[in-house]
Order: sequence, then structure tokens, then C-alpha cells
Amino acid sequence: MKAIVLDKTGGPEKLIISEVNTPVPGPGEVGVRVHYAGINYAEILSRKGLYGWAPKRPYILGMEASGVIEELGEGVDKSRLGQDVMVGTKTGAYAEKIVIPQNQAIPSPEGFSMEESAAFLVNYMTAWVSLFTMANTQPGETVLITAAAGGVGTAAVQLAGANGCRVYGMAGSEKKIDFIKSLGAKDAFNYRLSNCFEALLSQTNGVDVALETVGGDVFKRSLNSLNPFGRIVVAGFASLDLKKWNPYSWYKTWRDLPGADIRIISQKSVAVMSCHIGYLMEEEPKKMEANYGELKDFVLKHNIKPIVGKVFSFEDACDAHRYIESRKSTGKVLLSLVD
Ligand SMILES: NC(=O)c1ccc[n+]([C@@H]2O[C@H](COP(=O)([O-])OP(=O)(O)OC[C@H]3O[C@@H](n4cnc5c(N)ncnc54)[C@H](OP(=O)(O)O)[C@@H]3O)[C@@H](O)[C@H]2O)c1
Repeated sequence: MKAIVLDKTGGPEKLIISEVNTPVPGPGEVGVRVHYAGINYAEILSRKGLYGWAPKRPYILGMEASGVIEELGEGVDKSRLGQDVMVGTKTGAYAEKIVIPQNQAIPSPEGFSMEESAAFLVNYMTAWVSLFTMANTQPGETVLITAAAGGVGTAAVQLAGANGCRVYGMAGSEKKIDFIKSLGAKDAFNYRLSNCFEALLSQTNGVDVALETVGGDVFKRSLNSLNPFGRIVVAGFASLDLKKWNPYSWYKTWRDLPGADIRIISQKSVAVMSCHIGYLMEEEPKKMEANYGELKDFVLKHNIKPIVGKVFSFEDACDAHRYIESRKSTGKVLLSLVD
């Protein structure tokens, strides 16, 4: 089968399709014919050799996909054959076929297209766990989402909005500002403009919850925008640009990593939290299953559908990575493995 194997780190040109052995499901596993692979920022970091949760190379890139179960391992219920599923995995989704334990092939939510199914698991679970399980976000609270036009960001804007929160977004271009407002955010601000946090505070008098994925100054100013009893959840730091052979970039990375001084945050009684759904899936599978159940019920009740920004062909995976790195993408970016 065709797959994108990461054996050396580097630029998008490392994403080369090669021919590998087609995997066969063992006991308790299923084989899924991949229709769409969802691209995550983590895979860009993995490609650069900067992702802590990545396994040892070589491996097939890709943490999520949608497709159809076409093969069953021993002991798997026959009714699963032909089921439309979403796949959540550590590796293996940039491929024509993936073999995973049967509980990692989750039936697609009712009414979701194959594209939407490939855009759901990682972004929505990250947003759900951050906003609700960790920050306990309540209706009526003021919520700030950074990188709000991206995959996790659009999911968070939708979920917090449907929960009755006053949602504010931040992003890196004027085009994205309009897009975030079209998703129901009360307002949105461009953090490439120096007065963006002043503009946020003049409208809100402070935020109760922030979901932060950019790092550096955006993290610091988001933390400073919290009201007493506020919570900030750090789920990423996309602006950090560690270059292994450049000591100045080590300093900048160290300086810009989110962190907090207990003496300062205690003066305002705010909480700084962080989550990673990959580690949680490994450490707390039962709790994550329960979280997924709550999330699925919530999106079906509020008729929320994932926003797919752009679909690239499998052969153009390098362009898809370049597109996300250019900061022009909105919503989820997918690779198509169907004609
Ligand atoms: N903790 C978890 O379990 C978990 C799970 C999934 C994702 N994440 C994190 O959540 C964030 C969003 O992930 P995603 O897959 O949905 O990606 P994405 O938001 O679709 O794309 C990344 C966005 O980050 C922003 N960004 C800020 N500085 C950047 C820079 N120097 N280079 C590139 N992008 C920059 C860009 O938006 P602007 O131009 O608007 O700033 C860009 O669109 C990432 O930080 C990712 O690592 C965490």
C-alpha cells in the first residue's frame, strides 16, 4: 500500500509517498480503508523532530483519519465490517490502510460526512477536555480562544458558543477575524496588532477562561487578561520555533514557553493548566471514553459540524503542511485518499 513514512526529519519535502507492506489485523484489531487523513499541527512538529509524543522513527505519520472497516481480526464482532469510522491513533493515518485496536475505530457521529469525521476527534476532544473537563467553563462566562481560526480554535469557538459563553477569538490576520466572527464569536482581534489585548479588555473587563495554543507574548497577555477565579488552559505553543543548531533559538524557546510564577498568579487567584490528549488517551482511556461520549452528545444536540477548510490530495501532502505553516489555513486541513 501507499504511505508517507517519516524516516528523516526536515521540511515538507520529507513527505514522500512510498510503497510499504499492507498491515493485517491481529486479534482484537480492525483494518480501515482510509478515505481522509486529518492533518494536525503535531505532525508538522513531528516532521521537524520537535514533538515529544512522537515515537521513534521510522513510522507512518498521521494521528487521525476517517474510513471504512474492511477487515476484522480474530474476536471482533462481525457487525463492524463495512462500518464508517473515525480513527484516533499515534501514527499510521497518512496511508491507504490502517490497522488499529477496535476501540480506536469509533463509529462516525450520525450525519457526519467522511470529511467531517476526519476533522473531529483531535480538535474537538482537545477543545472539550480543555474547556469543560479542565477549566469547568460555565454558561455566561467570558472565554478567550487564541489561534481561533485554526482546527482546535474553530472547535473551541463552536463548543464554547453552544455552551452559552461569551466567546472572543484572537488570530493572526484580518481575514481570520471575520471568519471567527462568522462562527458566532462576539468579537475577534488580530494579535499581530499591538493593541489587541487592550481592545479585548475594553470590551470584556477581563476573561474567565482562556484556551491558549500560541505561546510567547500571546500566552503572557492572555494570562494577564484573566479575572479573579480565571483559568487558562495551555494546549500548545505554535509560535515557538526551536532550531536545534541555533543557540539563540534555544534562548527564545525557553523565554517563550508558557509558564507562571506562583507569587504573581496567587495575587489574582487564577489557575494555569495544561492538557495533552495523547498522553491522556494512554493514561486514562476510560475517562477519555466518557469525555468522548459527553462531547458526541453535545455536538449532536447543538448540531455542530467540524469546519473543513481545505482538502489536498494525498500526493500533495507537502503542500498541505506548507499551507498550515504559512498560517493561511482556517479550520481543518485534510488529505484525500479517495478519487
Ligand atoms: N494538547 C493537545 O492535546 C493538542 C491537540 C491538538 C492540537 N494541539 C495544539 O493546538 C494548536 C492548534 O493545532 P491545530 O492542529 O488545530 O493547528 P491550527 O490551529 O489549524 O494551525 C496552527 C495555527 O497556529 C497559529 N500560529 C501562531 N504562531 C504560529 C507560527 N509561528 N507558525 C505557525 N502557526 C502559528 C496560526 O494561526 P494564526 O496565524 O491565527 O496565529 C496557525 O494557523 C497547536 O499548537 C497544537 O500543537 C494540542
